[in-house]
Amino acid sequence: MKSLEELKKLREKLQSDTKLRAADGIKVIVGMGTCGIAAGAREVMAALMDEVKKRGVAGVAFQQTGCIGMCDKEVLVDIISPGGPRITYGNVRPSDAGRLVAEHVVNGQIVKDLVVAKSV
Ligand code: FES
Repeated sequence: MKSLEELKKLREKLQSDTKLRAADGIKVIVGMGTCGIAAGAREVMAALMDEVKKRGVAGVAFQQTGCIGMCDKEVLVDIISPGGPRITYGNVRPSDAGRLVAEHVVNGQIVKDLVVAKSV
C-alpha cells in the first residue's frame, strides 16, 4: 500500500495532467475506411501515436473515421486544435508523422504541402 504522501503526489499529478488535457484538447483523426487501410492508415496511426508518445505531448485524442470520399488522397489525417479550423492532410505516410506532430500538434503551424482541405 502506498503512503499518504505518495497518494497525494499521485493525485496532484493526475489533476495536473487533466488540466493539460483540458487546455490542449487536440484531436487527430485518421481515415480508416477500406481504402485508407489499404493505403497504410494503420501504419500512419501507429507512427503518429509513437511520435506523440516520444515527445511526451499530453492532451492529444486519437480517433478513427470511415470513408470520406477522397480515396485518391488516402491516407487522410484531420488535426483539430481547440478553437481552430479542421485541417485535413492527404497522402500522409508514416514518414510524415514527425512533421505533423512537431509542427502542427506541438507548435500549431499548418504543414501546408500536405493540406487537402480546411474547414472551420
Ligand atoms: S472508399 Fe475511399 S474514401 Fe471511401
